[in-house]
Amino acid sequence: MKKLFATIMKDFEGYVIGKMLRYLKDPEIISFAGGLPSSDVFPVDLIQQAAERAIKDNYESVLQYSPIPGEKELMTAVIEYLKTDNIFIEPENIMITTSGQHGLDLIGRLFLDAQDLVVIDLPTFGGALAAFELEDAKYLALDIQEDGSDVEGMDKGIQDLLSQGKQPKFIYLVPDFQNPSGITMSLEKRLAILEMGKKYKIPIVEDSPYRELRYKGEHLPSIYSLDENQGNVIGLYTFSKILCPGIRVGFNIGPPDVIQKLTFIKGSNILNTPKLNQDICTAFLKECDLDAHFQKAKAYYAEKLSFFLGAMEENFPEKTGVKWTKPEGGLFLWITVPEELNTLDLFYLAIEERVAFVPGEVCYPEGLRKYNTMRINFSFPTKEEIIEGVKRLRQAIERYKAGERPKGQPD
Ligand SMILES: Cc1ncc(COP(=O)(O)O)c(C=O)c1O
Repeated sequence: MKKLFATIMKDFEGYVIGKMLRYLKDPEIISFAGGLPSSDVFPVDLIQQAAERAIKDNYESVLQYSPIPGEKELMTAVIEYLKTDNIFIEPENIMITTSGQHGLDLIGRLFLDAQDLVVIDLPTFGGALAAFELEDAKYLALDIQEDGSDVEGMDKGIQDLLSQGKQPKFIYLVPDFQNPSGITMSLEKRLAILEMGKKYKIPIVEDSPYRELRYKGEHLPSIYSLDENQGNVIGLYTFSKILCPGIRVGFNIGPPDVIQKLTFIKGSNILNTPKLNQDICTAFLKECDLDAHFQKAKAYYAEKLSFFLGAMEENFPEKTGVKWTKPEGGLFLWITVPEELNTLDLFYLAIEERVAFVPGEVCYPEGLRKYNTMRINFSFPTKEEIIEGVKRLRQAIERYKAGERPKGQPD
């Protein structure tokens, strides 16, 4: 059958993290690998009540096909919710998606012809790379800095490309507590990148799953809000990290011509987002005490982060050459180990030690990979698991440094 597959699919291997999760079935393994919010902070009662009510009172419509752009009630609730983040939009600026990953898929389909260029940070979200790879994207990619994108480097790179007649299609960013690095873009850089986008007429795709999850420091305006809905930014949001990921609901916001086309594409790929799930999100936005909910989630995650950072300090003194980011929010941090370590090999040694992480290479496009980095999710494991897991990570690194290599990939 393989020879009948579309050319682009022949070597396509999907989102690599998904494949690695098969190593995590052993309950003895402490996983820092997923991107999982903790089920301890899901508002389970509210979700259950909303689901029961929707089916009891409205089963005819809840179980039917529903409008492609999304439920009016949810879109209205989202428009209200966004006002609390200084984003003021109209109904023609929003479309409901079936999760953040779907939002990314739609963006790739709308903008990218084969070999088209996307401007990205290195590293960046592996799921975005996987979505854009489906369109055979190419990249202008610059190392992310402590305060976010290398805006100057991007500006030079874009100028260069334009002088060769090559027009990048969009700039993809996760400005708040980036997945995977945990880095947050400074206000100066948000303003600078917006100006740069406007100067070169390249839209910014601002992916914001983690904005609500700030544990310390100053809340910074989104690039979308800085643009004041002038059409230079497309915002991607999801309920996955603020409510729960199983529900698979998100939303894209942006200029009406973009939203209309995204809706046409959605109609051709998944049609509608399940109304039941949308109704649960509407109930979450309208009936939940959001401040209290986010406070609870933030206190919970902040404690985990502080445990993780403490365990890193304890296990990895400076002489080990192991470095890590210290995020102000989100669910991830990024570890860099000395260059002679390959974190894919280390992954299999770590599995032997019963601890897992995401080898950083999946957060780079092919040809631009770095092999001495890893992504850590600190939000899911318990505090005891964090302490034990970091110790196991140290043991795996020590074994690697002592010359041991994995005996082969485990089955
Ligand atoms: C930056 C970023 N964008 C998008 C997504 C996808 O979110 P969803 O679970 O809603 O598909 C994630 C999930 O981890 C993410 O980190």
